[in-house]
Amino acid sequence: MQQVIGGPALAAVPSILPDAYGAPGLPVFASLDEALAAHDSDDPLFVLYPQRIAAAAELFLNGFAGHTMFAVKVNPHPAVLRTLWAAGVRDFDVASAREIALIQDILPGAGMAFMHPVKPRRAIRAAYEAGVRAFAFDSAEELRKIIGETGGADDLTLYLRLAVPAGGGALMDLSGKFGASLEGAAELLRAARPMAAKLGLTFHVGSQCMDPDAYARAIAHARAAADGAGVAVDALDVGGGFPSRYPGMEPVDMGEYFAAIESAAAAHFPGCALMAEPGRALVAEGGSTCARIELRRGRDLFLNDGSYGSLYDAANFAWRYPARLIARDGRAECEEAGEYRFFGPTCDSADRMEGPFSLPADAGEGDWIEIGQLGAYGQTMATRFNGYYSDATVAVLDGARQGF
Ligand SMILES: Cc1ncc(COP(=O)(O)O)c(C=O)c1O
Repeated sequence: MQQVIGGPALAAVPSILPDAYGAPGLPVFASLDEALAAHDSDDPLFVLYPQRIAAAAELFLNGFAGHTMFAVKVNPHPAVLRTLWAAGVRDFDVASAREIALIQDILPGAGMAFMHPVKPRRAIRAAYEAGVRAFAFDSAEELRKIIGETGGADDLTLYLRLAVPAGGGALMDLSGKFGASLEGAAELLRAARPMAAKLGLTFHVGSQCMDPDAYARAIAHARAAADGAGVAVDALDVGGGFPSRYPGMEPVDMGEYFAAIESAAAAHFPGCALMAEPGRALVAEGGSTCARIELRRGRDLFLNDGSYGSLYDAANFAWRYPARLIARDGRAECEEAGEYRFFGPTCDSADRMEGPFSLPADAGEGDWIEIGQLGAYGQTMATRFNGYYSDATVAVLDGARQGF
């Protein structure tokens, strides 16, 4: 995804920027240094980079052969949603009644698809009343709920969520909990066909998928499901899973993913509507957490953010985020590097992030650390455990990735 960061790609997007920070009360700064200078607080600072989000959206809108929906759960911040809208994203994959209400509030007129395979009945009703017509299911029980709560509507697009075989090259599996098996799919598709104005198939290859061919294999798997049922399929939604860049994880160019999907979809589902629900790839680069070092003990840094804040994946999946030091006193950068472990602010021993995170050897109390790539699955994961949380979010108009 080299092309979405900094440089020439950004030249294409500034025109959308005036609409991009409409979130009430979201301060905008020209640089991160300015934002930190204004942050007189003991809380971490969440930083959004709207230009990077807009550039990632443009990459998808221009390169993906189908329709791009944003998976709201990945970063539901109103400024993120507005930025994506301003960049041209018109449809959103929602997982709950609250996400539907949020989209209605922030972006009236946006399209929504309720792609969570297990939904409360009240949420299905609320979704239908809100104009949602696309719903996912992976069981006969859920199909009955959707049909019942929408009053047997004749304008539904029903997506059967399939589990995809393991080993698809993704860092986080997303078929362990949801998704019909190939054997179970035939009956579900036959049951849904007469109820659906449009019948679709969907899957999630797993998040941070490092292998473009995983999509081609999943599309072939979906074809086998449709053939097994002997029913016509109208739509194919290839889900999320598109990768971003992290230390030690450099995916191939996004164009290879788009090409693999386009050719597999043309071969197996000619004439079908094609959709994707990227989350991470649209917003990871567009957000950071700035955490402050409260104490240093050897190579252990105790921060004001951690696994109960925006660093959930760093703690629970040993996810290695890029980190850079912003010295408290503006001292010259120390040339020598050190490898660090992070600890969060709560009393829980699990509030630790092994990393290792690479930072200058002289990191110490009072220094700030910008932890990058946290526009996805960052701020949205934060709790209020132990009274440590932050309401401080700013936008920084500095599109180029700095110092990671
Ligand atoms: C149904 C669905 N679609 C899309 C996504 C976004 O996935 P990613 O961030 O890997 O693109 C998720 C993530 O959990 C999901 O559950």
